[in-house]
Amino acid sequence: MIKSIIAQKKQGKNLTQNEIAEIINSYIQNKIDDKQMTSFLKAVFKKGMSQAETYFLTKAMQNSGKTFDFKGLGTVVDKHSTGGVGDNTSLIIVPILASLGTKVFKISGGGLGFTGGTADKILQFKGIKNQLEFKEAKKVLQKTNACFLTQTDDIVPADKKIYALRNKTGLIQNVPLIASSIVSKKLACGANIVLLDVKFGDGAFMKNYKNAEDLAVSMVEILKKENKKTCAVLTSMEEPLGDFVGDQLEVREAIKTLQGKTKNNLQKLSVLFASKLFSMAKNISFKDAKNQVLETIKNGNALKKLEEIVVAQSGIFELPKSKIQAKIFDVKSTKNGFVKKIKTENLGYLCKEVSKNFPQFLGVEIKKRTGEKIEKNDNIFLIYSNNDLSKKIINKFKKCVVTSKEKINKIKLIEKIIE
Ligand code: URA
Repeated sequence: MIKSIIAQKKQGKNLTQNEIAEIINSYIQNKIDDKQMTSFLKAVFKKGMSQAETYFLTKAMQNSGKTFDFKGLGTVVDKHSTGGVGDNTSLIIVPILASLGTKVFKISGGGLGFTGGTADKILQFKGIKNQLEFKEAKKVLQKTNACFLTQTDDIVPADKKIYALRNKTGLIQNVPLIASSIVSKKLACGANIVLLDVKFGDGAFMKNYKNAEDLAVSMVEILKKENKKTCAVLTSMEEPLGDFVGDQLEVREAIKTLQGKTKNNLQKLSVLFASKLFSMAKNISFKDAKNQVLETIKNGNALKKLEEIVVAQSGIFELPKSKIQAKIFDVKSTKNGFVKKIKTENLGYLCKEVSKNFPQFLGVEIKKRTGEKIEKNDNIFLIYSNNDLSKKIINKFKKCVVTSKEKINKIKLIEKIIE
């Protein structure tokens, strides 16, 4: 049976819901091995999947584990990013929404490859418990309107196993496989409203805009079929989103944003996402929602809410010191001109590699953005580290920036919103 299902997919035939469920269930019950699953995944890579098949795959994956049930708790919202560099919007929008009375249940994964993950960032709050039993998590949600959890083994175990295999076999970049992987987890997390941040460009899994758009359309369709209110925002990852890369520095930047002290792409996108979700949750206009989002930052409620959530999860909340407590290593421009490109994927990988070898390395601050004018000796990056870093390492950071004599356009952050 399995052999014939794989053979059919290899010939490009559309599979039925039962056939797809059979493949997924057989794999998690160890009835088929990695080799057979790889052969199926390769066939999907080559021949694609219809939207109906992608939906069946999503449901089969979701049904491999538990689904959270928020009956009696009212509307619960969720946001998901397909993965980027310097992207700490979740840490900002969760307390904003919670402070406005909207419940957010945020289950996040750790960083994948060169990208960062909220699950790692949240651990910067010392003592925080991020693997709560559902009963306990529900209590935190009821008390504070939000909860930050880390993905556990019982949430979509099929994705865990298949994702590891895709990672090992290089079978990541495929729209139906990514869509089903992401949406199965969103459905299992049980929220009624889901905003998807679908990233494209150098620092994203989807390098190409068209593929990112196809992914966004596919995910929105599946969520709508499941009666979720949803929208997808296509955003550029051609450069890091915030001004910092590195978990500790990113948490610091998120707090500064909640204090109303930043004005950059990270702040802009966080306000957009929080306003979109709030307008969907309350059925109010985007303009009204945005006014309330800006107000809850201004009056300090959003920041207070972050502290409340962290403390409710047994963590210690401290406001960052005004100066970053680390030695600074400069990466300076050697020429006059413009920033042509920030090699964002390389920068993400480099930060991870350096932090593995140097535990006191905090990360990088981006001082110049794509299209910005630079003069010789201007700082492009500042590297923060309490371990000494060699010239060789600093040069690796230098290579993450390409400059040009010609004027370069700034990057457009938000390409499209799909509703
Ligand atoms: N993130 C996921 O959760 N799954 C994928 O397949 C890719 C990115």
